[in-house]
Amino acid sequence: MKILFAGMLVAAVAIGWGSRGAAAQSANVTPERDDALSAVYATPVEIAEGGRIAEASCARCHGANGISTTDGVPHLAAQRAAYLNLQLRAYRQRSRVQSAMTGIVRYLSDDALTRVAAYYASLDPPPPASASAEATPSGSDPVQAGKAAAAACGGCHGETGISKIPGMPSLVSLDPKYFVATVSAYKSGQRKHDVMKSLVAGLDDETVNNLALFYALQEPAKAQTPAPGDPAAGEKAAASCAACHGDDGVSGNPATPSVAGQDAAYLASTLRAYKDGSRKNDSMNGPAAALDERAMQDIAAYYAAQQPQPLNVRRPLTTAEWAERCDRCHGPNGNSTDPLIPRLAAQRSDWLEQAIDAYRTGARQSTAMAAMSSLMSEGDVEALSAHYARQKARAVTYIVLPPVGEKRDK
Ligand code: HEC
Ligand code: HEC
Ligand code: HEC
Ligand code: HEC
Repeated sequence: MKILFAGMLVAAVAIGWGSRGAAAQSANVTPERDDALSAVYATPVEIAEGGRIAEASCARCHGANGISTTDGVPHLAAQRAAYLNLQLRAYRQRSRVQSAMTGIVRYLSDDALTRVAAYYASLDPPPPASASAEATPSGSDPVQAGKAAAAACGGCHGETGISKIPGMPSLVSLDPKYFVATVSAYKSGQRKHDVMKSLVAGLDDETVNNLALFYALQEPAKAQTPAPGDPAAGEKAAASCAACHGDDGVSGNPATPSVAGQDAAYLASTLRAYKDGSRKNDSMNGPAAALDERAMQDIAAYYAAQQPQPLNVRRPLTTAEWAERCDRCHGPNGNSTDPLIPRLAAQRSDWLEQAIDAYRTGARQSTAMAAMSSLMSEGDVEALSAHYARQKARAVTYIVLPPVGEKRDK
């Protein structure tokens, strides 16, 4: 009889989409987290009381009905009750510090925090940001952006960076660090080439990074150009080059370009340029000075015949791939099904960006989020924040159970 009553004593249970199972499974529930869960079982009377506290102490910043109109202040409407409760306790214990919030919660009791959390959870969710208000930021797919920018280069360097024109270098197996350094050397004039200088002068850093990534991720192949020298003689002459350029011209060092599969006419022209000093480099001017025209042609033929290798560069995740990872914890389209994990759907994008930055800098502590946020680029943070702001949020449903005569025992 008693056991049955214990269940009946709970007058209302807040569920978010499937949260009951998740609440039961929620791993390693500490006493603090256990307390936070009390907001999930608030009665309608307690929720109404939470509404009065919210009106008096919170609405001036968090907006009427928990919908914030202020930059840097999160929406609270329809956020998970236990999560809100946990954060309020964290502000009160100063394990999460922010002057506005720590000042406000200092004077509120456990019960007050539980009720105000339950009240905000019970409200209708904020509307999602419209697609136009949250224009998709660029950089959400750097490889696609790199491909688009590379359209201007394909006429000389080949569509995927594999040269078909003698004298034009392949770009396909260049390490992104070397690529970026080279483009900036053309821009500054440190590496002299008027045509390349004018072609890259207008590219911003992000575009150059995207181009570098695009070429680095293309399937490597030898340049489709003739190589008039003698590769066997070239192999012997290139013996002293392997120390820096690697066996078979595949370099393991980002500062030293791979030369395997490179266009032979370009290779020979760079060796001439190093030899006559028109291209300056401390590592190369010495070795090139010792080579005659014949040796240059042979070495060029040898390296051109070697198989270029894929670079050890990982394709960054697209926004959709990132979101799929976030959703594993934050629920489908950011609608959390775990009472202790916040809903991200329809949250303010400026707040989402700010929150992720706080995890990154350690201003806000969370093992899960420290790990996730350290992997995101600036562009990822912007794109994901805009993505979640646009998702439709689900309401948290409080199911009212049959009322009981006794006062709920806490
Ligand atoms: C003076 C303005 C102000 C008042 C009043 C205020 N808040 Fe806040 N609140 C903020 C700001 C700013 C933040 C973001 C703080 C941060 O960066 O950690 C915040 C954050 C929060 C968060 C964390 C949300 C999340 O998703 O991480 C909760 C929960 C919260 N407030 C609840 C309340 C409640 C409940 C009250 C009333 C008892 C209240 N706030 C009163 C300004 C205010
Ligand atoms: C009109 C033909 C032409 C176009 C178009 C062109 N390039 Fe070049 N590019 C060259 C030539 C020729 C060289 C060799 C210059 C030298 O000897 O320094 C070169 C060299 C380079 C190199 C250095 C390769 C190495 O192995 O050191 C990079 C990187 C590069 N180009 C990137 C680009 C990018 C990015 C674009 C498009 C924005 C582009 N190029 C467009 C002709 C072109
Ligand atoms: C001490 C290390 C070192 C040695 C030895 C060396 N290189 Fe280099 N090589 C470099 C570095 C570093 C660069 C990039 C320099 C720059 O940015 O101009 C380079 C650039 C080149 C390039 C231009 C590639 C491009 O994509 O523009 C060619 C070709 C080349 N080396 C061939 C050779 C040959 C042939 C030998 C042997 C005769 C040789 N190198 C020996 C370090 C070395
Ligand atoms: C392993 C589970 C996990 C994954 C994966 C995860 N999160 Fe979280 N996230 C959490 C937890 C737990 C919190 C609450 C931490 C706290 O107490 O501050 C949180 C909090 C947040 C917050 C703060 C929300 C607020 O209102 O203050 C944001 C924003 C966020 N996560 C974004 C993301 C994004 C974007 C991704 C994907 C790149 C992601 N999370 C992936 C578990 C996760």
